[in-house]
Amino acid sequence: MIAAPAAPALVVLTGAGISAESGLGTFRSSDGLWAKYDLRKVATPEAFARDPQMVHDFYNLRRRACLDAEPNAAHLALARLQRDWKGSFHLITQNVDDLHERAGNTDILHMHGSLLTARCALCGHRWPAPEVMAPTDPCPHCAGPATRPDVVWFGEEPYHMEQIGELARAATLFVVIGSSGQVYPAAGLGGIARRNGARLLEINLMRTGKPFRAGFYGPATEMVPRWVDELLAGQGAG
Ligand code: APR
Repeated sequence: MIAAPAAPALVVLTGAGISAESGLGTFRSSDGLWAKYDLRKVATPEAFARDPQMVHDFYNLRRRACLDAEPNAAHLALARLQRDWKGSFHLITQNVDDLHERAGNTDILHMHGSLLTARCALCGHRWPAPEVMAPTDPCPHCAGPATRPDVVWFGEEPYHMEQIGELARAATLFVVIGSSGQVYPAAGLGGIARRNGARLLEINLMRTGKPFRAGFYGPATEMVPRWVDELLAGQGAG
C-alpha cells in the first residue's frame, strides 16, 4: 500500500531581521545593538550580577521601543500563514519582542525569552513585565529584590529546546527569516532539519550561506508576503 504523503510540517524560525522594518534594531549590522552596546556589559549573567541597573536600563530602552513598534507586513503574513496552512505550523523566534503575538500568531516559542515578561532571579517566578524595571523591584511571589528581564543571556540555556529539537527533526519545510545564523543553538536548527529530510529556505536581505541554498532575498516586508502567497497557492484546494 502506498503510504499517504506526510502532512507538511512547516517550521518557521525568525530573527531580528523580521522586526527591523518595524524600527527595532538588529544585532550585527554596522549600526546594530552590538555596535552600540558591549554585550558583555548588558546581556550576560555576570553583567547582571555586576551592574543590574545597567542591564535593566538596556532592556527598559528595548521594551519601550518594542511597545512603540507595530507589527509589519512580514509579521502579518506569518499570522495569515498559520491561519490558512493545511499542515502543521510552528513558529519559533529568537526575538524578545511581541510583534508576532500582536500580528496574530499563537503558540510562539520564544527561545530567547521575552521583553514583556519579568522573572525573579531567586525563585524563578514570572509575571508581566512593567514598562520600566529596576533591580530593587520586589518579586510578587517571594518579595526578593532580584527581578530580571525574562531574556536568555549569553551563557544561559535557551527555552523550549527539547520541543524545538523535535520540531526541527520532524519538519518537512524549515524556513529561517531575518537571522544571520551566528548564534547557536538557533543557528544549528536548519542543519538538523536538513539532515532529517526537510527542505530549507531562508528569507533575508542577503545569502547567509550555512545550510541554506535557496531563498527569497530582499526586505522581509516584501519577501515574506510573496513567499506566503506562493506557499498557500501551491497547497491546492485539496
Ligand atoms: N529583511 C530581511 N532580513 C533582514 C532585514 C530586513 N529588513 N534587516 C536585516 N535583516 C537580516 C540581516 O541580513 C541579518 O542576517 O536579519 C539578520 C539579523 O541578524 P542578527 O542581527 O545577527 O540577528 P539574529 O540572527 O536574530 O541574532 C540572533 O543573537 O545577540 C543574539 O539573542 C540575540 O536573538 C539574537 C541572536
